[in-house]
Amino acid sequence: MTATTATLAADIVAALLFILSLAGLSQHRTSRAGVGYGMAGMALALVATVVVAGRDVPGTDVALIIVAMVIGGAAGLWQARRVEMTQMPELIAVLHSFVGLAAVLVGWNSYYEVESHGSAQTLIAHDLLRIHHAELFIGIFIGAVTFTGSVIAFLKLSARIKSAPLMLPGKNALNVAALAAFVGLTIWFTTGPDLGLMIAVTVLALALGWHLVASIGGGDMPVVVSMLNSYSGWAAAASGFLLNNNLLIVTGALVGSSGAYLSYIMCKAMNRSFISVIAGGFGIQAPTGDAAEQGEHRETSAEETAQLLADASSVIITPGYGMAVAQAQHPVAELTRTLRERGIEVRFGVHPVAGRLPGHMNVLLAEARVPYDVVLEMDEINDDFSDTSVVLVIGANDTVNPAAEDDPTSPIAGMPVLRVWEAANVVVFKRSMASGYAGVQNPLFFRENSSMLFGDAKQSVDAILRALTSQTPPATSPRAVQEHVGDSVVA
Ligand code: TAP
Repeated sequence: MTATTATLAADIVAALLFILSLAGLSQHRTSRAGVGYGMAGMALALVATVVVAGRDVPGTDVALIIVAMVIGGAAGLWQARRVEMTQMPELIAVLHSFVGLAAVLVGWNSYYEVESHGSAQTLIAHDLLRIHHAELFIGIFIGAVTFTGSVIAFLKLSARIKSAPLMLPGKNALNVAALAAFVGLTIWFTTGPDLGLMIAVTVLALALGWHLVASIGGGDMPVVVSMLNSYSGWAAAASGFLLNNNLLIVTGALVGSSGAYLSYIMCKAMNRSFISVIAGGFGIQAPTGDAAEQGEHRETSAEETAQLLADASSVIITPGYGMAVAQAQHPVAELTRTLRERGIEVRFGVHPVAGRLPGHMNVLLAEARVPYDVVLEMDEINDDFSDTSVVLVIGANDTVNPAAEDDPTSPIAGMPVLRVWEAANVVVFKRSMASGYAGVQNPLFFRENSSMLFGDAKQSVDAILRALTSQTPPATSPRAVQEHVGDSVVA
């Protein structure tokens, strides 16, 4: 087997491993194997790249590549070990920005390479040279949009800047004008490449990436993260064309298309227009909802909540970002066990964007060994709240906000939410009256059937568990408890 055939074979095997990885990651059960396939594919791709480089460049350059890989790998390992689960989307946004920046640098490098070789005569035929110019221009554009977009996403997700949407006058016209300018510049560049045009497209794309993501409000950030994931894939594929690297093209296309599909699914789940979100909130009006308080709220204690639970026949727990921050999943699982042992029905209602990354709550609940069959998706449980005695809203806010249904001027208007307020009693676990990620006040807190249990969610659940265990165990059978409590709830 020649070295070229071996490299080609390695590329095909690595591409297959990446496809298996995506398939594995689509289900909890197979996700570990999915990660394993991805790691194996990447290791193979790196080895093949170094081997190919070893044929084309001097040994010292290969040594430099290996040093760069060791530094990059060590930095990645260090970050992955110290990052909290709740900071994962920020980390992903930073990693997307690296892909974007790399695509910009590859594009610029390719421009200088062709220019310095006078390639029109030596390297490739005239028509191919035009295609090459178009490729590098498009690669720089996608890369630069991904770079600044991801940096803004990182700043918003880590609360370093406000998550509210930027509303520049004529923002939609600005985006359309930037796209039209890009098309014009590309045609110009393919006919007469020039350093000034390179600078112009880079600056234009950097500004567009910043504007697209800055224009999207906090509640829609999950879609933005998966959209940037898709952009970073296309940026990598563009680099693959420039570097003549088939594996990079295939991998980039896999990331680009799976990210686009994930964005589409999330848009559907959140009742958002896909086109509107990828076009930087195209067509979305300036929100008028604010974070001012909207009435009187009622406070409760751990002891009162324990009593409410002991008297309940059915309980639904709706976890959110605060449960992840407090790391309350283990006491929540313990509370679930305790209540179920007393014959009380306990289920979980999980919103598709609860927390800070897709499946965040499912992962935490699985880690705490909450049985899968009591963890239900929003659509599966939303009609059951009206027959429920008690809902425990543990660190969730935007995902249980009735303003999404009742207030058309709210920034989260139209987003499907868990209709917790339909239950007989709602207890909201949080530390203050602060708003959630979207920065919108929550009228749920001021409803008559709601009460606030202030404090860290883990400490609150621990206190409820202590109060429950210090109570005299129920003398009646679980069935009798259900019947008795069922009566009192309906009343
Ligand atoms: P959020 O609306 O973010 O609200 C979380 C609440 O948890 C806050 O109001 C906070 O109130 C409370 N909290 C924080 N730390 C706590 C602690 N230690 N103990 C008790 N409570 C605590 O949560 P959500 O309902 O899960 O909604 C998720 C939001 O994030 C949505 O807007 C979604 O669009 C966005 N988002 C989601 C994702 C994905 S993919 N899931 C990605 C990016 C953004 P206090 O400060 O008063 O305690």
